[in-house]
Amino acid sequence: MVSKTKAQKTLFTAAKIGAFDLKHRIVLPALSRLRAQWPSANPSDLMRDYYSQRASSGGLLIAEATAITSEGRPYHAAPGIYTEEHVARWKQITDAVHAKGGLILLQLDHAGRATSTAIGQVTPITASVNETFLEDETVVVTTPDGLVRPSAHRALETREVAGVVERFRVAAERAKRAGFDGVELIAGQGHLVEQFLQDGSNKRTDIYGGSIENRERFLIEIIGAVSTVWGADRVGVRVSPSSTFNGMGDSDPRALFRHLAERLNDHGIAYLHVIEPRVSGADTVDENQDAVAASELGQIFHGPIIAAGGFTPATAEDAVNSGLANLIAIGRHFTSNPDLPYRIENDLPLTHYDRSTFYGGDGHGYTDFPTYEETREAELLA
Ligand SMILES: Cc1cc2nc3c(=O)[nH]c(=O)nc-3n(C[C@H](O)[C@H](O)[C@H](O)COP(=O)(O)O)c2cc1C
Repeated sequence: MVSKTKAQKTLFTAAKIGAFDLKHRIVLPALSRLRAQWPSANPSDLMRDYYSQRASSGGLLIAEATAITSEGRPYHAAPGIYTEEHVARWKQITDAVHAKGGLILLQLDHAGRATSTAIGQVTPITASVNETFLEDETVVVTTPDGLVRPSAHRALETREVAGVVERFRVAAERAKRAGFDGVELIAGQGHLVEQFLQDGSNKRTDIYGGSIENRERFLIEIIGAVSTVWGADRVGVRVSPSSTFNGMGDSDPRALFRHLAERLNDHGIAYLHVIEPRVSGADTVDENQDAVAASELGQIFHGPIIAAGGFTPATAEDAVNSGLANLIAIGRHFTSNPDLPYRIENDLPLTHYDRSTFYGGDGHGYTDFPTYEETREAELLA
């Protein structure tokens, strides 16, 4: 591809996505960095600095997976949005991002079965009891005592489902009071909503199981509840149709996710965020050529598409130019380049990320990556 000048890059043209007016098309996707306080799940001052560093005028940040209840926490040191202290501390973060002209959404999360009693203190809930999941050695949970296997779970009773939907609504209300611009629902990554969607984890015989319509019902109810707080144009949905992360699987993922993309057309949501097949969880994997990609779901879903997974500055520009997606989320490169949009706009080199500091720890490898200009100043002074 011929390299374009700054003024020509499509990534740096404005976009209206739901209710959000954006000045560029590079998004920080949710990245769980495990720097919240344990066991309170309070967002930390370090997190405020981290998000503030990554805010840019008219740019969209999606804050990391944040538990709607204490038992829905996927990892220790993941933040919550279920107490008033959480609201107050997130407010400091949203204020810092807004001060730089950025927008920030909160990713509302419930881990379902993908957690441990060492974190949530109670038996994890899910769609259906699944012994195979408990035997799957690839699934681990980060606890204060290190990595453990998920605890035995239990299936939600039909009459309990409405209570969980209500907890999503209450969390959305708290997110609003915390100053967020909207919310993203995580319907992927092997967490509770996806455990209802996919038939590998949903063997229910009630109205939440069986047909694709029934398996989608939980998500559709949550979208309805959360939209009463925000308006659907401030609610996004994230899916990872091809990922087997956290022991996920469906007998016909193509049929499921095509159906879901079509059904979401009726709900007026802000965007559909699709993780591409080349990434599973936080890792790049061999791409299954037949997997369900953003381009396919974008043919069906009429609203804006955010694509994520393994994008470089060049492939991100190609993807928006070709109409594959409206916005591109770039995760791992954003960890080590707080000024990522600026670097991409100006064709500047990227600092490589440091996997060893992804999860947990202090500011090292989290808030101490310099901007390009800071690096240059340091070089000039040396
Ligand atoms: C450290 C780390 C934490 C992540 N946490 C989340 C998360 O909380 N929620 C989520 O939906 N995806 C999460 N992901 C997936 C990313 O949002 C993104 O989809 C993935 O990193 C692929 O994009 P990339 O290739 O640009 O990094 C995480 C990925 C990484 C590397």
